[in-house]
Amino acid sequence: MSSCFPIEKFAQKETPFYYYDVELLRKTLATAKEEAAKYEGFHVHYAIKANFNPRLLQIVNEAGMGADCVSGGEVDSALKAGIPADKVVFAGVGKTDKEIALALDAGIFCFNIESVPEVEAINALAAERGVVASVAIRINPNIGAHTHANITTGLAENKFGVNYEQLDEVIDTIESLPHIKLIGLHFHIGSQILVMDDFIALCGRVNELQTMLREKRGLVLPHINVGGGLGIRYDAPDKYPIPDFALYFATYAQNLNLQPGQQVHFELGRSLVAQCGSLISRVTYIKRGTCKQFMIIDAGMNDLVRPALYDAYHRIENLSSSKEDELYDVVGPICESSDVFCKDRKIPSTQRGDILAIRSAGAYGEAMAFGYNCRRLPSSLFSDEI
Ligand code: LLP
Repeated sequence: MSSCFPIEKFAQKETPFYYYDVELLRKTLATAKEEAAKYEGFHVHYAIKANFNPRLLQIVNEAGMGADCVSGGEVDSALKAGIPADKVVFAGVGKTDKEIALALDAGIFCFNIESVPEVEAINALAAERGVVASVAIRINPNIGAHTHANITTGLAENKFGVNYEQLDEVIDTIESLPHIKLIGLHFHIGSQILVMDDFIALCGRVNELQTMLREKRGLVLPHINVGGGLGIRYDAPDKYPIPDFALYFATYAQNLNLQPGQQVHFELGRSLVAQCGSLISRVTYIKRGTCKQFMIIDAGMNDLVRPALYDAYHRIENLSSSKEDELYDVVGPICESSDVFCKDRKIPSTQRGDILAIRSAGAYGEAMAFGYNCRRLPSSLFSDEI
């Protein structure tokens, strides 16, 4: 049984819903800001894809962070939350003309571009408006991060970024386009990374590339964006509620060789918002099979897809029981065999109506929910609203 959750309030509410601990969210954002501020020229952008709940975005904005967006919808959400356009970066392999136009009209800080045709499209739309668009080239550094295969992005085989061999062509194109200004380099190697060596390897690549560009082309760019990726402890959310931002930023400060005045940008998603969120669900039935005991709950893979999609681990707590542990497969109501949150997990003896908290669900939880089986999207409750 956990005492940190307002269980009496939960009991009055329709489940499932996402619950956000506002105090922890604010503390996490403040810690990240504080640790980054120890180094001159470090800027943190929140990766909106992790969670675009409007109230959460408002709190992110109050903490003074910029935004990293990957669609026109995300750029729009960032601006609506009050995040200033000059702190918005826009990435993604498939930006449409409509999305580019929206970002140009808003006057965002930078487009992270990934191909020659994309930069040509941005140039044409910027020309129509009589403006110059600032861009950073997203580099594919060919580094394998120690994380799930579906969430590494920096390998040569991934669709993301510009490979080293194509870099000259992309820079030549940019230099020939009057409505594009090259201001930086962008990298991102993957997500849920807890091994600092991966970030050190990335710093090595950044340094190599900076030297090469300086020696070969006399090019020193003012902005280096190293992406996001810092992981969290899904196994122990109460012991590690706030990730080790001090170590993370110190790793970059120690390993990047920066030129005077160069600014470093980070795009953190999960590490800022995962631990403050839990998916709250009611137990619908306990079903005894021949060799298994199923806990059937009213949340499904449509509410939190990470276990089904990545085999991801989330702690599951029964807020209503402190009885002896039993073994359960916790499953949802969706008509798919993959609608499973965990198998053979020890959880206090549970009965119909008990309330569960599925922990560390603030990132890529609500944001990835969908409506399969005509299910309503999960609602949300913030701790300061009760
Ligand atoms: N920047 C870029 C270019 C990205 O692609 C991502 C995440 C981030 C920043 C933020 O990464 P973070 O700090 O959150 O690790 N749905 C998956 C994670 C997908 C991450 C996609 N890119 C999951 O639930 O684990």
